[in-house]
This record gives sequence, structure tokens and C-alpha cells, in this order.
Amino acid sequence: MYSIDETEWQNKVTDTVVQKLTHQQTYNFITLATLNEEIQRRRTFAIISHPDAGKTTLTEKLLLFGGAIHIAGAVKSNKIKKTATSDWMEIEKQRGISVATSVMGFNYGDYKINILDTPGHQDFAEDTYRTLTAVDSVIIVVDVAKGVEMQTRKLMEVCRMRNTPVIIFVNKLDREGRDPFDILDELESELKISVRPLSWPINIGERFKGVYNIYENTLDLFQPDKQKVTERIEIADINDPRIDEMVGERDAAKLREDLELIDGVYPEFEVEPYLDGKLAPVFFGSALNTFGVKELLDCFVKIAPSPKPVIAEERQINPDENDFSGFVFKIHANMDPNHRSCIAFVKVCSGKFERNANYRHIRSGKTMRFAAPTAFMAQKKSIVDEAYPGDIVGIPDTGNFKIGDTLTAGETIHFKGLPSFSPEMFKYIENTDPMKAKQLDKGLRQLMDEGVAQLFTNQFNGRKIVGTVGQLQFEVIQYRLLHEYGAQCRWEPVSLYKACWIESDDPKALESFKKRKHQFMATDTQGRDVFLADSNYVLQMARTDFPKITFHFSSEF
Ligand code: G4P
Repeated sequence: MYSIDETEWQNKVTDTVVQKLTHQQTYNFITLATLNEEIQRRRTFAIISHPDAGKTTLTEKLLLFGGAIHIAGAVKSNKIKKTATSDWMEIEKQRGISVATSVMGFNYGDYKINILDTPGHQDFAEDTYRTLTAVDSVIIVVDVAKGVEMQTRKLMEVCRMRNTPVIIFVNKLDREGRDPFDILDELESELKISVRPLSWPINIGERFKGVYNIYENTLDLFQPDKQKVTERIEIADINDPRIDEMVGERDAAKLREDLELIDGVYPEFEVEPYLDGKLAPVFFGSALNTFGVKELLDCFVKIAPSPKPVIAEERQINPDENDFSGFVFKIHANMDPNHRSCIAFVKVCSGKFERNANYRHIRSGKTMRFAAPTAFMAQKKSIVDEAYPGDIVGIPDTGNFKIGDTLTAGETIHFKGLPSFSPEMFKYIENTDPMKAKQLDKGLRQLMDEGVAQLFTNQFNGRKIVGTVGQLQFEVIQYRLLHEYGAQCRWEPVSLYKACWIESDDPKALESFKKRKHQFMATDTQGRDVFLADSNYVLQMARTDFPKITFHFSSEF
């Protein structure tokens, strides 16, 4: 019989344990290495602009470079037209089509790029704000003739709140526009961010000859072409006589003068302040002519951040943690009333998301398994087995999810709420069919969970007030309540200026304010106190009379 003495036995056991541990560690190491590689190569961002500046055109050209589409015009056909009319059915129909274009993923070299689409119509601005919480950086498109417009200013405020890194693309250089130095000044003062041009145009409009790429020391000569990618010419330095040959002596001299001025006025470009959201590199080009787009993309993949850690209420969540976590930032309703399913868009924040794995839905405490999660590649939606931080997964849903919900491998994590901004328009919502009060309540609750609009309940008379960014949303709500929930409602006017979330370190001051303004106090869907100011004057007076109260125009403070 084989015998073994005690010490030998001990040694054997230890050896086996060590061997096992080593295997496990090796496995962990490989998994971690893959996870890290996948994280490092991801770039998740949104393109934002005022309607008509060229967001759709630029998106399309980026997809063209990534090989995700082969002809220009493919994205355009899915675009939500920015009609001034309130033909929202048409818009919603197009929104239906646009599920596939909500996230556009493609590979570019070693990088995996995820572009998150934001609605063009400004009545859906709230959707855009929420999408911005799911991106790691943004590209802002500005029209060279129009400069910074209202919508861009607002969106930039949201970026600033989260220190989102920003790259600016000044578009439509093939058209007459403003002096590029003026544009830079305006970008700085209006968007409240330092700028640093990384490319510089040689004339604009009819005399536009090309762009000097400061970042790469190349000269790109302009050839109007909607489909082809421009050829670039490598330049040794700015004094290279070939520049004179190509653009003419006068323009070459002007270019040298401009670049000298830029070097004198703007600090050297550094990646750190860009990543901190303090400095925006600026590129010039023409999206329609595919000009300056590749330069933008090449620089973008190099400097833009890969998925960053996310601060949850409990702790900071790092993307390279083993366990999966993610949050719902958008819910896309199916407009077909016969199929009440929605798609919840989940941004993966840490670990690897796997199909059919058990995940915990933190708000309900339920364990869920997703058999058919979808990913978005090259405008196509397909079932995926796994996804990494930075990726967006679409999950078919029948009303379980709410915007802001967290999913994890088990740990209780609450990602900080997505901000709500004060609506611009307010209306009382009234039930017109007393038999359907329950349906109305349910419908309204679900539409608010989807983030269609904001609901406030007046603390004084209990009336419900719906707040939106634009008129279209009232029509959407009324139509959907009727067609999806069988509930009828009508709108009644209420004259309000802003909704302000209030807080104070002094509970007495808060109580006395609420008492004084009791007719204008409301509760939002999270149970927070909101002051509904009926005019700017009233708001200013309230600020003067109640210095201990802080008034916030967004729910995240
Ligand atoms: P948006 O998504 O930001 O709203 O803008 P979009 O790309 O739809 O562009 C708005 C208009 O500006 C489009 O013209 C588009 O062709 C044009 N455009 C975009 N980039 C450039 C550019 O670099 N140069 C010039 N000259 N025009 C540009 P449209 O007539 O409104 O639409 P369409 O008929 O071309 O579809």
C-alpha cells in the first residue's frame, strides 16, 4: 500500500493549492488583460450641435471612414427632419427607424468607436442631455457662418457640469463665413472653455483652398467631393516652399502669419487639460465635402478618453473591475401599440456584460437574465454574447426599466441620477374620462419613467403639471396615452417660468419659504421639493427675500 507521511502530505496539498491558485490567477490575469485591452480601445462619444450645423453629415462621414457605410446619404435617410411644424407622427415614425442609428458602433484601426446619436429636433433636448451622461467625450459641430448658437450653448453647459472632454469642429468652410479668429474668440467666450486650434483654414468660402493641420504638420488641399476622401500632403515645416507653390505666395504668407499669431496667443496643445474638460482643440473643415474629417477622426482616437471611472453613490466604479455594472440612460418606446415592448439602452460601466448571465436590477431587487441583448454595429442591430465598458447594449423591455436604473452582478450600486433640467413649458394635465383614471396614472408614470417629460404635483391643490422642452412633447404624450393606455387627457394652461429644485442648510428657512410659497410648491416624481416660479421677477424676489435658500435649475446638485 502506498503510504505517505504527514509532512509529505502537507507539501503535496500545498503544491496542489499553489498550482490551482496559479491557474486561477493566470486565468484572472488573462481575463483582466483582455478586459483592459477592450477598455483601452473604446471611444464612446456623441456629436452635438445646433440643428443644421452639420451633425448628421459629420456622423455619416465618420461612418464612411470606419467602413460602416459605403455611400454618403445612408444616415441622412434615417434622420429626424427638423420640421418647424408639429408633425410629430412623422417624427416619431422616423424615431422608430432610428433605433438602429441610436448607437453606431464601428472599428477604426485598432479602435472600437461608439457614436451615440442625439435627436436633431430641439423639442427632444432632454433626450440629448441624458445621452451625454453615457458618453466619455463629445464633438461639437459649429457652423462657420453662424458661430455658437443657442442649442450648442445649452449642451455645452451639460458637458461642463460633468467635465466632459470636448473637441470642436468648425464646419462649412466651403461657404462664406466668419473670420476664424472671431470664431475662436466666440467659442471661448460663449462656451466658456479655452480653445486651441489644431488645424487652420486657408481662406474660406469661394476662395477656400485647404487646411493646414497643425497637429500633424500636413497640408490638405481642398477638392470638393462628397464621396471621396481627400489626399494629404506631408509638409516638413511651415516654411516649406511647396506651400507657396500649392496655395500661392500671398495665401502662404497669410497662413504663416496666422500660425505665428496662434502660437503667440494660444498655449501649446496638451492632452491633460483637454481630458479635464478645460481645453477644447478646434478643427476646421467641411463635413459635406469630407474635408478635414479624417484629421479630426485621427486626432480624436488618439486623444479622446477610453471609458472613465464612474462615481456611484456608494463608491467609484472603475471600468476594469471584474464585475459587470451599467445603467439605463435611454428607453426607446415602440410606437406600435400592438407591441408594447421598449428597448432600454444600457451603458456598460465596468466588467464584461454577458448574455444569459444573472444580473441584479437594483431598484426592484430582482434578478434578471437577458436572452436577447442587442449591440449596434455599422447601423445593424444584432444579438450579442458579450459587451465591454463603453459599449451600449439594447435590452428588450416590457416596462421594467426606468431611466437611471442600475444593473450589476450583485453589488448594490446606485449610479448618480441623471439630471433633469427645468422644463421650458408647463401645462396642467386633466383626465377627460373618469372611468380611465387608473390607466391615465399608469400611462403617465410610465411615460415619465421613459423620460418623455417631467411631472410635478402641486402641493397646494394636488393638480398634476407636465413640464416639457417643446410643444411637440405634449402632443406625443396625449397621443401615446390614448393609443397605448386608452386614457384621454386635455391640457390646461398654467403660466410658469421655471421649475427650481430648492435646498437649504437651515430647515427653518426652508419651512418658512415653503409656507410662504405654498401655492407654488410642487413635488417631482422623486419626491423632491420644487418651486414653480411664475416669472423671472418672482424668482429674483424670492432669491433676495430668502438668501438661505439655494435655487437649482437642474435636479443634480
Ligand atoms: P444637423 O444634423 O446638424 O441638423 O445638420 P445636417 O448634417 O443635416 O446639415 C444641415 C445642412 O447643412 C444640410 O443641408 C447639409 O447638406 C449642409 N451641410 C453640412 N455640412 C456642410 C458643409 O460642410 N458645407 C455645406 N455647404 N453644407 C453643409 P440641407 O440642404 O438642409 O439638407 P440636404 O438637402 O443636403 O439633405
